[in-house]
Amino acid sequence: MASSQPGILAPVPPLARYVTYKMLPGADPRTSLRALRDAADGSHTVVGFGLSLVSTLEIHIDELRVFPEFSGFGLDIPSTPAALWLWLRGKDCGEIYNRHRVLDAALSGAFRQDQVLDAFIHGSGRDLTGYEDGTENPKGKSAVSAAISQRKGIAGSSFVAVQQWLHDMPRYEAMPTKEQDHCIGRRRSDNKELDDAPESAHVKRTAQESFDPEAFVVRRSMPWIEGKDCGLLFTAFGASFDAFEAQFRRMLGVEDGIADALFKFTRPLTGAYFWCPPVKGKKLDLSALRI
Ligand code: HEM
Repeated sequence: MASSQPGILAPVPPLARYVTYKMLPGADPRTSLRALRDAADGSHTVVGFGLSLVSTLEIHIDELRVFPEFSGFGLDIPSTPAALWLWLRGKDCGEIYNRHRVLDAALSGAFRQDQVLDAFIHGSGRDLTGYEDGTENPKGKSAVSAAISQRKGIAGSSFVAVQQWLHDMPRYEAMPTKEQDHCIGRRRSDNKELDDAPESAHVKRTAQESFDPEAFVVRRSMPWIEGKDCGLLFTAFGASFDAFEAQFRRMLGVEDGIADALFKFTRPLTGAYFWCPPVKGKKLDLSALRI
């Protein structure tokens, strides 16, 4: 039976590096992809492929599309597609760096590195604003059915939405505690869900059972810091992008004009979709790409 990349359903690692690549003009990626297939185990290194790469191999995967741009209600949501995505998971910066260099060399014949971002766990798994992140993630079998496709031909794959969010911490810190809690819809001090939170509260916007059909995803986001900047590297794994997209449209207020209160202090800088192939043993299974 095809298995998903184990890093997807495993707990968030203490440290990680996120890397995206673009394709070099006119390059044939097959040799690099064979090297990546053998070097990435799906556990320490989770891999995703973008539409540009999959389509250049003349393969069509129904669910794979480009992250949608959006402008409205004072928001400009960017779409920043890439050919390839690596999520290097670990607990030692030096080991992650060395693994990155090996993979980078394997990919260099056909790919150019685009963005690199280091991330980490904060406290018990909190966003840098101090809120617990991941509480309502599905677990066990529910996580498998939310995040992993069982569709014939791509069984064991997952589809990940990735966004780098930049927090405006002074703006966030200027809000009274009650307003901060109402942005999320949970109390930071004890993570209790607030019944009196406004409709704009993040957990009211994204409540997974409230969608029709229900919209469950497995979130594996991690905080990041670069100089004075900080934020959340948001990732949501799904059996398709539909659940993420339904949630995000609600956050943007597309249907009812109510934007998520998170936008009071944070904005996405990037947005991309990737298909994460299954694994066979300790290697990526790229048979769907005829590799
Ligand atoms: C800077 C960006 C974000 C921050 C800081 C953030 C933070 C949080 C926090 C603190 C919670 C409550 C605890 C939990 O259940 O995890 C939460 C819940 C959730 N968030 Fe986010 N989030 C962000 C972006 C997003 C985005 C872009 C989506 C999807 C479009 C999303 C989807 C969800 C979902 C589905 C829940 C659980 C809702 C439920 O069923 O109760 N989040 N988020």
